[in-house]
Amino acid sequence: MKQMTPQTPTRPIWEAQGEEKRREVRRMFSAIAPTYDRANAVMSFSLHQRWRRFAAAKLGINPGDTVLDLCTGTGDFLPVHRSFTGNGGVLLGIDFCAPMLAKAVTKDSNATLSLGDACSIPLGHNAVDAVSVGWGIRNVPDIDLAHREINRVLKPGKRFVSIDCAEPRSSLIRIATSLLRTPMLGFLGKLIGSQDAYQYLSESTARFKSREELAASMRSAGFIDVHYKDLMLGNICVHWGTKP
Ligand SMILES: C[S@@+](CC[C@H](N)C(=O)[O-])C[C@H]1O[C@@H](n2cnc3c(N)ncnc32)[C@H](O)[C@@H]1O
Repeated sequence: MKQMTPQTPTRPIWEAQGEEKRREVRRMFSAIAPTYDRANAVMSFSLHQRWRRFAAAKLGINPGDTVLDLCTGTGDFLPVHRSFTGNGGVLLGIDFCAPMLAKAVTKDSNATLSLGDACSIPLGHNAVDAVSVGWGIRNVPDIDLAHREINRVLKPGKRFVSIDCAEPRSSLIRIATSLLRTPMLGFLGKLIGSQDAYQYLSESTARFKSREELAASMRSAGFIDVHYKDLMLGNICVHWGTKP
């Protein structure tokens, strides 16, 4: 019989909560880091950088600003932010998964990359001019706490943007998407790596807060002027808000 240890997952990763979710998510991203960028390009039909540019434009970044990309992963937001800050800007990338961060080094060699948790951001109050999170909020064990932390590190008057997967609002598109998603993710799982990781994408999106719940969480964390916009027929949603 298989020996159980405290590290042995007791349920699928998409059902994990709290510390177990944090540990399993980190383990999963460590495993898929080598193939993450390729998978992202395939899954988004190479549209993900266009979506990032749309999201980054909501931040109102000025040349020379300090921008935090939280859950930065392999750092694909960094070149987009650099195009706004110029070389005089300061880019900070924070993620709790070292193998993902190791890939981010190649995206902007001047960015400062650090290990850290979205629920306990290793920065002082009012430290940055903008915060982005790309496909990260869905993975954190306490989204309300992460929103409060983001609000804490932002300077007053500055903005936060998050882009993530969403369930389409139209039931017709939701059905069509789920019919396509399951075989497509299965194919990707086989082609690129871990089957579990791609099932996690689908399952965690289905269990994720709704657009309205995410906006409410941002407002409770102290953001004002909270808005959201669907992309890709509602399979992607961008939320943004301002710290008063
Ligand atoms: C789907 S990837 C997205 C990476 C990147 N932002 C992008 O847009 O491609 C999610 C990232 O969030 C990170 N992450 C998940 N939970 C986190 C947490 N609680 N604190 C810090 N990073 C976290 C993972 O390690 C992973 O690199």
